[in-house]
Amino acid sequence: MKKISINLNGETRYVHVEPNDVLLDVLRDKLGIKSPKSGCERGDCGACAVLLNGKSVRSCLVLAVEVDGQEITTIEGLSKDGLTPLQESFIEHNAFQCGFCAPGVTISATELLNKNPHPSREEIKEAIAGNLCRCTGYESIIEAIEKVAKK
Ligand code: FES
Ligand code: FES
Repeated sequence: MKKISINLNGETRYVHVEPNDVLLDVLRDKLGIKSPKSGCERGDCGACAVLLNGKSVRSCLVLAVEVDGQEITTIEGLSKDGLTPLQESFIEHNAFQCGFCAPGVTISATELLNKNPHPSREEIKEAIAGNLCRCTGYESIIEAIEKVAKK
């Protein structure tokens, strides 16, 4: 076991991890952060995405020991002070059905809008290409992101 510290959603959190513990499991099972979802657990679906120092990563592919001393942001952190305009837009567009993919899509779209506040439709599609959604066909998700991008 190794004790690591993570700046998690703006707070310093300490946790003991095994060398082979993946970040997704540590967030969900040891730190009570439930927004990243366990889908494929091999980097294919994007449901487990979180921001690591502002960059989207698949937390099922990151070892917890690798993030010692670094900054992780999840949906819990993004909406700490209320829903973001992106989240409001997702609601307005009924962008999700079952919602399983929603945290990962939100992380990918947040990263995009932070880097590029006015992306094109193509850039939006590219940004969420790694997030699988079994329910929606993506149109409502893209429209919701586009609305924020046009503001
Ligand atoms: Fe991590 Fe699918 S659970 S990419
Ligand atoms: Fe169900 Fe996307 S809303 S997987």
